[in-house]
Amino acid sequence: MNDRFLRACRREPVDTTPIWIMRQAGRYLPQYRAVRGKTTFLGLCKTPELAAEVTVQPIDFLDVDAAILFSDILIPVEAMGVPLEFHENEGPVLPQPVKTAADVQKLDVFDPTDRTPFTLEAIRQTVQALHGRVPLIGFAGAPFTLAAYMVEGGGSKSWLGVKRMMRQEPQLAHQLFGKITETIAQYLLAQVEAGCKAVQIFDSWGGELGPEDFEIWTLPYVQRIVQAVKAKHPEVPVIYFGTGMSTLLTRMKKTGADVIGLDWRIEIDVARSILGDDVAVQGNLDPTALFLPKEEITRRVEEIIRRNGGKNGHIFNLGHGITPPTDPEMARHLVSEVHRLGRRS
Ligand code: CP3
Repeated sequence: MNDRFLRACRREPVDTTPIWIMRQAGRYLPQYRAVRGKTTFLGLCKTPELAAEVTVQPIDFLDVDAAILFSDILIPVEAMGVPLEFHENEGPVLPQPVKTAADVQKLDVFDPTDRTPFTLEAIRQTVQALHGRVPLIGFAGAPFTLAAYMVEGGGSKSWLGVKRMMRQEPQLAHQLFGKITETIAQYLLAQVEAGCKAVQIFDSWGGELGPEDFEIWTLPYVQRIVQAVKAKHPEVPVIYFGTGMSTLLTRMKKTGADVIGLDWRIEIDVARSILGDDVAVQGNLDPTALFLPKEEITRRVEEIIRRNGGKNGHIFNLGHGITPPTDPEMARHLVSEVHRLGRRS
């Protein structure tokens, strides 16, 4: 097994810098679009053979050092009882958002083997298809990010729905966040038990909260999820990723995650000097840097690796998901350049 990724998560020495790419199985890849053409996005998430097939595609094509389960952070939201739709080229729509105490009451803290068997089966089939080549990463959304979608009923720029609930009905919001937290902890444990070797918690909109609110609405909940995974599987690295959170790094570290996922808004050496050397980092090339010419991509990779200064505990990634208009050839160039320039002497 190529264990560079897991070694870097544990801050152990590696032969070269490991890399994987958020959304590496996605619409920028023609081979993904071919499989996706057979069904809907949710159909793809719920058909284990197809989910396993697209998960493995970037391993073959890009030569990345880890696979990530093909699914979506909103799958467990649907399993909690909130209907979910994906409209073509639009993103998620939740036509019956969570607004009232009755809505929160109704939410089901589900048993993953019962309500999301397709996710666990996709993991088992992916692990088989990977033949031990690279580890599989499982994932879930963080409570604030999931609550934001649940209350808003879809994407938003300002997330006023969830923020208003937090301000005006804090008890109700805490009940909601608590239910999500319990569900996500069980969901991640089930993913590990099905074969995932690491897990990532996506807090895509976590940067919408200031320091005080992060400490009330995010820290205790993410801590609980990290502790639940660690209590049963202390060997499984937990990655906590968020965007717009460069001003919250010391607080992100308090979650207890082994790896902090960075977006591109901060230099990696500055982030590491704030975080200290007892935690690994993942990142942090701007996804749109892949629109640059190859030589310029190389220069940016060189800069990140130089700034990391040869320290253990760096997993290369983009600062957020790879975008659909990216030329797949540029993603391949990125991976081979990270492996070339990251080589330890
Ligand atoms: O990283 C991977 O390759 C694994 C698969 C994965 C997807 N979504 C597939 C996907 C992962 C880890 C996610 C997580 C996810 N989903 C997040 C957190 C990461 C992030 O980007 O911040 C969020 C916020 C979602 C919710 C979501 N799903 C949105 C907002 C959208 C629409 C935006 C878009 O890119 O169209 C999705 C759809 C989605 N999730 C697609 C894929 C491949 C595109 C759907 C399609 O094929 O039509």
